[in-house]
Amino acid sequence: MDDNLDTVLVEFDDETGVGTLTMNRPDALNALSGQLRDDIVAGLQQLEAENDDAEGIALRAVVLEGAGEKAFCAGADIGGFSDESAGATSAPSHYDFVREFPVPVIAKIDGYCLGGGLETALACDFRLASEGSTFGFPEVNLGILPGAGGVQYVSKLAGPSVAKELAMFGNHISAERAAEEGIINHVYDEDAFDDEVEAFVTELAGQAPLSIQAIKKSADMAVHSGLEEGIAYDGQLFAELLKTEDHAEGAAAFGEDREPEFQGK
Ligand code: CAA
Repeated sequence: MDDNLDTVLVEFDDETGVGTLTMNRPDALNALSGQLRDDIVAGLQQLEAENDDAEGIALRAVVLEGAGEKAFCAGADIGGFSDESAGATSAPSHYDFVREFPVPVIAKIDGYCLGGGLETALACDFRLASEGSTFGFPEVNLGILPGAGGVQYVSKLAGPSVAKELAMFGNHISAERAAEEGIINHVYDEDAFDDEVEAFVTELAGQAPLSIQAIKKSADMAVHSGLEEGIAYDGQLFAELLKTEDHAEGAAAFGEDREPEFQGK
């Protein structure tokens, strides 16, 4: 299934279970128009439908990237976001949809990652960037602030002082600095970027899918829950995973000294 949308290209690789969504407004540096936000949600729904006729879980991971040479995403479409904040955006927001999507979403960042583009990347489970990529919250230059929790998330990842520096000055920081601050996971040389991202995503997609889904829920809960509540939640997830065929398969494969074949059942 490769069923492209107006502003998002959609691909699914049924060998690896990896879906790819490409934000496709390169002339506007993939700025988030209302259509693009809606198409990100629609693209994820389309990929999720791969599970409908599958044995177990077919979709194992999603890569979100930007078309063109210059940008992952340069933020909200400056021409249109007043209208959108008045209510013309997708419901639920693409940020929430990405955050709550059951399988991991990996932001593949090659170039500018700014404003709502950085907030989109922050909604993803992983952020992998090429060396020349830059990150920033330029909203202060427009007399606003990052409106989708960007300051909150960077404060949790890197501390409030780093979040304030980014959002109050509106300057761009390098991928190297973003990685040092814990805002992104990895930086790769330009030459090796595609291969490194592919290796990361393929390995992730080969892990036991129900474990991955449970770990995503657990880690995301840790951002807002107390420790006791979080540990109790992990206990429930653990008990559920113990009953799965994938757990039996993992244990059998260990005993038989072979690679497990996980189905997501
Ligand atoms: N919205 C709409 N169009 C944008 C855009 C944006 N956020 N960012 C870039 N573009 C367009 C430019 O207008 C330009 O279009 P034309 O060729 O038709 O003139 C094209 O993309 C290429 O951009 P530049 O010529 O400016 O490229 P550059 O390499 O010289 O500069 C840049 C790149 C530094 C990213 C610069 O374009 C820039 O500062 N863009 C604005 C970034 C920004 O302020 N983003 C935050 C928006 S607010 C937000 O995101 C918060 C929210 O969610 C509500």
